[in-house]
Amino acid sequence: MSFALRTRPRRLRSSAAIRELVSETLLHPKHFVLPLFVEEGISSPKAIPEMPGVERYPPEKLTNKIENSLALGVRAFLLFGVPLAKDELGSQAYSKSGVIQKTLTLLKSSFGKDVLLIADTCLCEYTSHGHCGYVQDGKVLNDRSLELLAKTAVSQAEAGADFVAPSAMMDGQVKAIREALDQAGFFDTGILAYSAKFASSLYGPFRAAADSRPQFGDRKGYQMDYRNVREALKEVELDVKEGADIVMVKPALPYLDVITKVRESFNLPVAAYQVSGEYSMIKAASKAEMIDEKAVVLETLYSIKRAGADIIITYYAEDAARWLSE
Ligand code: PBG
Ligand code: ZN
Repeated sequence: MSFALRTRPRRLRSSAAIRELVSETLLHPKHFVLPLFVEEGISSPKAIPEMPGVERYPPEKLTNKIENSLALGVRAFLLFGVPLAKDELGSQAYSKSGVIQKTLTLLKSSFGKDVLLIADTCLCEYTSHGHCGYVQDGKVLNDRSLELLAKTAVSQAEAGADFVAPSAMMDGQVKAIREALDQAGFFDTGILAYSAKFASSLYGPFRAAADSRPQFGDRKGYQMDYRNVREALKEVELDVKEGADIVMVKPALPYLDVITKVRESFNLPVAAYQVSGEYSMIKAASKAEMIDEKAVVLETLYSIKRAGADIIITYYAEDAARWLSE
């Protein structure tokens, strides 16, 4: 039997060669960013039980890890610090001898321009209360937080950060940081803004990894409500006006619609952050042999790219780079 079907979409699926030829979405390690945790006061890498396969590194032990990434084609890194001591004002976030500052200096002297070092600019890993800003009477005060965040960004730039990545979701943080960087002469230090950062339960494993759980309340007073997409566009618009170089949507997979809208509405590079909970869910299901890890990871990364992300921040950056080259 033959039918007079003119259009047979299956023709374009009939061999790997034709499928590759017509594939619409490209994924390449050069668009990945690998998040790294650096801990002060440890002498060897320390496993993170909530994120199997991810470790906290002592600053001096990061060079091997980075060499491994570079060999796979991943050269951008997002650095998070875990300090020995925390206080009300998060002073280790902007101390010249802070764990991130030491790490940035060390990595810049070893790798120079071969790596792109992005410093996460926030206070939650450094404050005793675990909030992302300045706390008074149980409230996170916006404008006092801006001063501390700006100070943090400048000290990260001084230590060698190529980019800073403000993630506190304080109003005006990009403007405050841009002005402070410029005033200190760091015109070329870029800003990767966590613009549409939602108050997500998928950050749980990260808070264990970075020891940054809020000690009271939650982050809903500053991070976004996940029911809102128009508001996400407003947040991105503000960050663009305030001087962001790259904008971010976070988390990634449950927010593909937001990624698409941001991509369509603005002409800046858009980054998407596949967060700790997204990582750990895939890890746990594959460890239980319920899903095929490689296949699922690549499917999620292609989806994030297809939705419109130019850059993907993922704990799977090295694995994905390896799998893509196979
Ligand atoms: C906080 C921050 C968070 C992440 C990065 N920086 C989340 C939070 O604790 O609110 C999450 C990253 C992840 O889950 O992988 N400034
Ligand atoms: Zn924070």
